[in-house]
Amino acid sequence: MTRDHGTGYSYKDKMNREFKNLEIGDVGIEIPIIQGGMGVRVSTSGLASAVSNEGGLGIIASVGLGEEKDATASNYASRSRNSFVKTIRKTRTMTDKPFGVNIMCALTNYQDLVDAAQQESVDVIISGAGLPLKLPAYINNRRTKLVPIVSSPRAAQLICNVWKKRFTRLPDAIVVEGPLAGGHLGYSLEDIKDSSRVFLDNILKEVLTVVQDFESPGCRIPVIAAGGIFDGEDIARVISLGASGVQMATRFVCTHECDVSDGYKKAYLAATKEDIVIIQSPVGMPGRVINNEFVERIVRGERIDFGCEYKCLVTCDSRKVNYCIANALFSAASGHMDKGFAMCGSNAYRINKIVSVKELFAELVEGARTSLKNRGMSDLRVGEKNNKTEERKGKNE
Ligand SMILES: Cc1cc2nc3c(=O)[nH]c(=O)nc-3n(C[C@H](O)[C@H](O)[C@H](O)COP(=O)(O)O)c2cc1C
Repeated sequence: MTRDHGTGYSYKDKMNREFKNLEIGDVGIEIPIIQGGMGVRVSTSGLASAVSNEGGLGIIASVGLGEEKDATASNYASRSRNSFVKTIRKTRTMTDKPFGVNIMCALTNYQDLVDAAQQESVDVIISGAGLPLKLPAYINNRRTKLVPIVSSPRAAQLICNVWKKRFTRLPDAIVVEGPLAGGHLGYSLEDIKDSSRVFLDNILKEVLTVVQDFESPGCRIPVIAAGGIFDGEDIARVISLGASGVQMATRFVCTHECDVSDGYKKAYLAATKEDIVIIQSPVGMPGRVINNEFVERIVRGERIDFGCEYKCLVTCDSRKVNYCIANALFSAASGHMDKGFAMCGSNAYRINKIVSVKELFAELVEGARTSLKNRGMSDLRVGEKNNKTEERKGKNE
């Protein structure tokens, strides 16, 4: 436990005084920081468990866990599911705190992976890269919390309306992802490239307004801000706007516990601001990546030879795209940066060292605490130690 000189408090104790715990239904998260799911094989059991052990919410990315060289159309779905289940079970041996999974709507085996997650009693499913309008249809319990990712108030409104009408269910929380995020982005190229067009803070405020109309005394929908959140100051900023927490991904790549190759982490450490570029991805959305020779080849339109043994993305037409994103990300995750690339958020160039998840949490919490205090917010956000998770465990025993 990290102790402060003189005070005797751990940073977690202090966090509980300065921030509200994040509650997603009856899942209590001590520190309102969710580590965003990162595929392919960037956030698996090592990172997710380390984040949850620090009191945040660790997230396993489900995409690309089953694909190896010998995956075929006939065994792809079962390989994916089996590896996903194995990763969930391994994570459970590494933490007794809540953790979640990220499942992209764009996956052809989306429904099967959602089913696997609920069979494994995962606490939280976070789902984006498309609108997860049918997600509740694949879930037969209220234990697993469902958290869509949106990029606009319109998307938040649509999901709340459809889920309420068709499934008498509302999201247990909503992640609002702004245009500075890593991974695939729910914005047009123009909106991403012109930084004066769309701002996370504005979308956050609009989504908070949308959500209010669906909330009732017994049903709160926490809104979580994501995309470009880099330090405690950023956390304090979105919390002061009304966010109940943050989802951060880029910052977690350069941690010892992050499951990806050293080559991937080194690409982050070496990146300058100019190296961070937007590509058009076979997922059908723009993606933010660190430029390298491979990226230059695909941007030039060169065809990188590949065979599509299994169709992993609903949105990808292998006859039309000039590279396979699953191959590229799998290569990068294994350290072959000449055959792939690292995905990242717009602030990746600001990272200059690899730290432990514990150190990162200590820095973020201290920074957020100081910034909230400067904003005169510390007394407004007093939260008691969260007992929800213990109660939840008791209920299920
Ligand atoms: C390397 C990387 C991989 C990602 N993979 C996924 C993914 O598989 N599914 C998803 O919904 N989001 C993915 N994201 C988005 C993150 O979960 C997160 O919402 C976003 O990156 C937050 O912005 P930040 O990176 O600036 O903190 C990825 C982001 C990164 C950096």
